[in-house]
Amino acid sequence: MPQRTPIILDVDTGIDDSLALLYAAGSEDAELVAATCVFGNTEAATAARNTQMILELAGRGDVEVALGCEQLLHRPLRTAPETHGPLGLGHAELPAPRGSLSPRSGPDLIVAEARSRPGEITLITLGPLTNLAVALEREPDLPRLLGGYALMGGAYRASGNTTPTTEWNIHCDPDAARAVFRAWGAAAATNPAVSRPLALGLDVTEQGIFLPSHLERLTVRAGAANPIVRYMTDALRFYMEFHERYDGFYGAFVHDPMAVAATLDRTLVRTEAVHVDVETSGDLTAGMTVADWRHLTGQAPNLDVAVEADASTFLDRLIDRIGGLAVARSGMAL
Ligand code: RIB
Ligand code: CA
Repeated sequence: MPQRTPIILDVDTGIDDSLALLYAAGSEDAELVAATCVFGNTEAATAARNTQMILELAGRGDVEVALGCEQLLHRPLRTAPETHGPLGLGHAELPAPRGSLSPRSGPDLIVAEARSRPGEITLITLGPLTNLAVALEREPDLPRLLGGYALMGGAYRASGNTTPTTEWNIHCDPDAARAVFRAWGAAAATNPAVSRPLALGLDVTEQGIFLPSHLERLTVRAGAANPIVRYMTDALRFYMEFHERYDGFYGAFVHDPMAVAATLDRTLVRTEAVHVDVETSGDLTAGMTVADWRHLTGQAPNLDVAVEADASTFLDRLIDRIGGLAVARSGMAL
C-alpha cells in the first residue's frame, strides 16, 4: 500500500474540480480528508451540492463537505456559467445528495484539521483563495500547521484566461490571493520548516488537454453505461463545446486534477522558486500574478511555480485512476 498523503481540496466545483475530486477518490496515495467549497465557477452553495454529488458518485459520501465563503472579501461576486453550465456540471445531471453538509464552515474546517494534525495535511485550493484567506485571519500560524499547500491558480509567464493578464481563480479574489502569498512568504522567511506553496498556473495546466480520444479510452475501460463514465461524458461535452467556442479546439483544459496529481507526485512538474505578488488595483491588471523572474524586487521567493509538466503522464494517470474508480463502482448502487 503506497504512503497516503492527507489532503483537503478547496473547490468551486465546476467541471474540472469534479475531475479533481474523482482523481483524488481514485488515488491510493491520497487520503481525502475533506472538501471545502467556495464561490467561483458557480455560487458556493451550488459548488457544495455539486461536490457532495460527485463524492457520492465516487462512493465517497463519507468525506466531509463544508460550505465556505459565498462572497468575496471586498469585491462583487462573479461566476462562470458559460464555462461550466448554469449549475456548474455542464450537461450532467446527478442524483440529489443524500448526505448533509458539515456543520463547520470551510475556513473553520481548514483551521481545525490543521491544528488537530499539525504538519500532516496538504491543502490544495482549486478555486478562489477566499476560504484560505479567511482561515489565515483566524489562524495566522496555518503555514506551519499545514504540512503543505498547493494551488491551481495564476499565470506566471502565460497569458490570462479571464483578462489578458489574469487567471480565473486569482482574478475572482485578488485580495485573498495577495494575503495568502504574502503570509506564506513571511512564514517561510522566518521558519525553515514552512515549504513554499506549489503553484500550478495556466503555464502548465493548459498543457493538459483532455480530448474525445481520452474519453474513449475511459469508456473502453469502464463501459459507456458506467455512472462515472456517463457523468464525464455529459459534463465534458459542455466543457469541450465551451473550449471549441473560446479556444478553437474541441477538448478541455483539465486544470484542477493536474494540481492534485502534481501534489501527489512532484515529479510530474518542474518548478522554479520565485517571488510572486498579486496586483489588486490596476484597471487593466487587477488579479495579475506578478512573478519576479529577474529578482528585481530583492524579495525572497514565496512560491514554487511549475514551469514544465509531463502532461502525457498526467493524462494517462487521470484515465487510469478515474477508470479504476469507475470499474470499482460498476454495478454498485449510486
Ligand atoms: O482558470 C482555471 C481555474 O478556474 C480552474 O480551477 C477552474 O475550475 C476555474 O475555477
Ligand atoms: Ca476550480
